[in-house]
Amino acid sequence: MNKEKKLWITFIVVVTASFAVLGYYGFEIYQKAPPLPERVVTTEGEVVFEGQDIKDGQNVWQSMGGQEVGSVWGHGAYQAPDWTADWLHREAIYILDLWSQEEHGQSYESLASEEQARLERRLQLELRENTYNESDGTITISPVRAQAIEYLNDYYKGLFMENPELDELRNYYAIPPNSIKDEARMHQMNGFFFWATWATVTERPGSEVSYTHNWPPEDLVGNKATGDLLIWTGFSIILLLVGIGLMVFYHAKMKEEEDPERPVEDPLMKQTITPSMLAVKKYIWIVCVLILIQVTFGVVTAHYGVEGDGFYGLDLSELLPYSVSRTWHVQLGILWIATAWLGTGLYIAPAVSGKDPKFQKFGVNFLFICLLVIVFGSMAGQWMGIMQKLGLAENFWFGHQGYEYVDLGRFWQIFLFVGLFVWLALMVRPLLPVIRQRTAERNLLIMFLVSSAAIALFYGAGLMWGRQTNLAIAEYWRWWVVHLWVEGFFEVFATVVSAFLFVRLGLLRTKTATLSVLLATVIFLSGGILGTFHHLYFSGTPTAVMALGATFSALEVVPLVLIGYEVYENYKISRATEWLKDYKWPIYCLIAVAFWNFLGAGIFGFIINPPIALYYMQGLNTTAVHAHTALFGVYGFLGIGLMLFVLRSLYRVQKWNDKLLSFSFWSINIGLLLMVLLSVLPIGLLQTIASVNEGMWYARSAEFMQQPGMDTLRWLRAIGDTIFAIGLFAFVWFVFSLNSKKKDPLDEKPRKDYKNPEEKRQLEEVK
Ligand code: HEM
Ligand SMILES: [Fe+2]
Repeated sequence: MNKEKKLWITFIVVVTASFAVLGYYGFEIYQKAPPLPERVVTTEGEVVFEGQDIKDGQNVWQSMGGQEVGSVWGHGAYQAPDWTADWLHREAIYILDLWSQEEHGQSYESLASEEQARLERRLQLELRENTYNESDGTITISPVRAQAIEYLNDYYKGLFMENPELDELRNYYAIPPNSIKDEARMHQMNGFFFWATWATVTERPGSEVSYTHNWPPEDLVGNKATGDLLIWTGFSIILLLVGIGLMVFYHAKMKEEEDPERPVEDPLMKQTITPSMLAVKKYIWIVCVLILIQVTFGVVTAHYGVEGDGFYGLDLSELLPYSVSRTWHVQLGILWIATAWLGTGLYIAPAVSGKDPKFQKFGVNFLFICLLVIVFGSMAGQWMGIMQKLGLAENFWFGHQGYEYVDLGRFWQIFLFVGLFVWLALMVRPLLPVIRQRTAERNLLIMFLVSSAAIALFYGAGLMWGRQTNLAIAEYWRWWVVHLWVEGFFEVFATVVSAFLFVRLGLLRTKTATLSVLLATVIFLSGGILGTFHHLYFSGTPTAVMALGATFSALEVVPLVLIGYEVYENYKISRATEWLKDYKWPIYCLIAVAFWNFLGAGIFGFIINPPIALYYMQGLNTTAVHAHTALFGVYGFLGIGLMLFVLRSLYRVQKWNDKLLSFSFWSINIGLLLMVLLSVLPIGLLQTIASVNEGMWYARSAEFMQQPGMDTLRWLRAIGDTIFAIGLFAFVWFVFSLNSKKKDPLDEKPRKDYKNPEEKRQLEEVK
């Protein structure tokens, strides 16, 4: 059996086996999710919440922006508290104080530590016991807990509506007054907060660990790190070392391939440009516009961290609250990156075959219009949702789903899902005839289509939850989309596309490229698919999920550790021949992709990845460090690099403004690095210390976050952010300035006078 065939078989085995396990434990998650009760009653028979309140409350929370304002179970935004950690701590303190007053006539704080410990133990027995009765679906609580809930109902009502005493706190949290406009909705949302918090402290039947694996850390209620967290942390680190060892061995064993003979002239310049390829230009322009909007909302969102109710004195929060600007910032990031890739795919497909199938140009234009409708339609819906202008069902369909990264309403989700298949069809049509010809590139093209198909298909996992699905189950499917995209099929897509471009440029042999793409795919997916569970350690799942997540996600880091090879190879390639100077910046973008894959995904990802680390860090700024450096660093740069490749081919005769591109490239990289090193990372690490010492509630509290030192660190973000934003502006400027130059897109003459006399001679000969 040849090597290629073996790799294809391994690929199929890995994917099938991984999905079987992912599916099996998904089934377990359905069975073992914290139960949604029919009602919550006191031992005296008083109904505290109806089950329907809790479900509707989840929808109210979603309508307000859900995970875009504070977080629940550690997932969401970093401004404002984690509502479950916050509720839990306030509930604990309230009850402890109540008992202390009853028994000693003084506050819990002022008690001797021995007495405090006794009350804490009493509290733990009270809160941790599982009183859910499966047969009638009730959760029974004591009157004292009901009293605490009443107090908390009042507190949250004041916070989300308009208690003037909480003005300052609202400002710190960047929550405008009357974020929730009606008392019934407020009661429902409190029901949801109660239930989500109940799950964090209530022990699973037959176990001493809570539904969320004792997350959030909180000593008062006995939420402590478990032995399992430690064991699987150790195991995952050892496994990472084993993986690296094997990989180094494998690399050492591999024979160095000789480089192929470099073409003397840029082969891409001979390529015909079909009408549908020309139509891709506007994709690039709209990406530029979306980048500008995204960065602007990023600046606004970050600014809410230092000025909770406005923007340099401008009262912005009434019209454009934090949750709107954060939603748009996050969503536009995904959408412009996706649009850049969609555009590149649409450019490459007909380029390979050299001609457009029927109606190809129409299809490209049609998809473009659809994308615009989805982008701006969903943004409008989200604004209406957050401004509380929609009913709960309308909000689900057209407004804000409140689930980070898949915030858009269900209608827009379906629309986008269909759009992705239209995209796929537009790529399959020109490529299929080429694949049938069984050329050497066949396997690469198949892999390209497989990863594109997977990107389209897996977006469908976002349709698996309904409006009132249990949060634990909705989270399972949400991470199918987010994780399987970014740590699975996007990595594959990135590898295939860059390999393919190098093959087309004549810099890599087709066979070498095919083998390395197949191997990389197998490696990425063997860790990546089950790695999904590293997002689900604490979201109401059984322990096995944590064990599997820790184990397999550690394997994801193995290929990233060795990515230096790739950087060096690409760097060598960029200097191989004179005409490649024209591709310096696109290739440098691929080098940046590799660098950030190592630092942003590999290192910053692994910092938070071991179970014991994430136990203390979930929902802190350390996650933001990772998210920015990985999502922008890897896929944002890939998007920019791919667009530059396309532009190089579209604008053949123009002389590129090298200085501007160089400035842009370095500003973006340096800005991103400074953003995290000067500000977000130190904040995250200080929060981690606070979380270990005091508990999660404290690490996210206004008390901690509003200390002067922390405020300074937040302001320091402006340095990196500004350099970063200027770099992106420069890029956009570059793209639009190409149009003002003399242009003739179908001109095929070589652009340059080659400085190297040998190359010039060769070129003359060829002619
Ligand atoms: C290019 C690849 C990657 C991208 C684009 C990426 C992106 C992201 C994003 C956007 C988040 C969510 C942040 C938030 O909730 O605000 C996240 C979370 C996380 N990522 Fe990655 N990631 C990548 C690779 C990795 C790798 C290789 C690891 C480690 C094995 C990793 C570990 C984690 C962990 C542990 C979390 C937090 C889990 C949670 O709170 O649910 N990521 N990542
Ligand atoms: Fe992940």
